[in-house]
Amino acid sequence: MIIAIDGPAAAGKGTLSRRIAADYGFHHLDTGLTYRATAKALLDAALPLDNEPVAEKMALEVELAGLDRSVLSAHEIGEAASKIAVMPSVRRALVEAQRAFAARKPGTVLDGRDIGTVVCPDAPVKLYVTASAEVRARRRFDEMVGNGFPADYLSVLADIQKRDERDMGRADSPLRPAEDAHLLDTSEMSIEAAFLAAKALIDAALNK
Ligand code: DC
Repeated sequence: MIIAIDGPAAAGKGTLSRRIAADYGFHHLDTGLTYRATAKALLDAALPLDNEPVAEKMALEVELAGLDRSVLSAHEIGEAASKIAVMPSVRRALVEAQRAFAARKPGTVLDGRDIGTVVCPDAPVKLYVTASAEVRARRRFDEMVGNGFPADYLSVLADIQKRDERDMGRADSPLRPAEDAHLLDTSEMSIEAAFLAAKALIDAALNK
């Protein structure tokens, strides 16, 4: 049983995926962390972000068990991740590890950009979680300020728009909803409402 959850940056899919995984007793993988871990390895070694063979080598060494969200959530790591995510051989290496994870029993929730389209195209439940860029920027801004980091709303919004462009515009596995994905626009929804809406869609798909 695989639940595939895709969507743009800061749409709330991480929080939603963790809640769904806890509710169904499934394993959860935030696939963005695999791209972030690859990027961090390059940044730590002061290696360039535009050398595909070097980036592929780092991607092959990523250990799913060692992914630490608190370390990998830094803004500059996300930016670097979005840059190396355009490289087909990096994607191939990470997708292979993600597919192996997806097969775990009793079930899995994977979230990312290409889960329903590329990583697990046969997943019985696919959600595409989105919200307007302004709402996503506001949530990210509130989170940063709440964590004690000074932030500027307009530059957070500009970053989100730039990230969308890169994630949706790349040639290999661009961000887009799978044809059979259920769209969940959380612009006007609380986390709780989004969770209940997602659960209703999943339960309906499971009972089909
Ligand atoms: O979801 P995130 O912010 O942690 O993702 C960081 C970057 O990784 C994102 O901008 C694009 C890339 N990514 C991807 O290309 N495919 C995925 N399945 C997950 C993330």
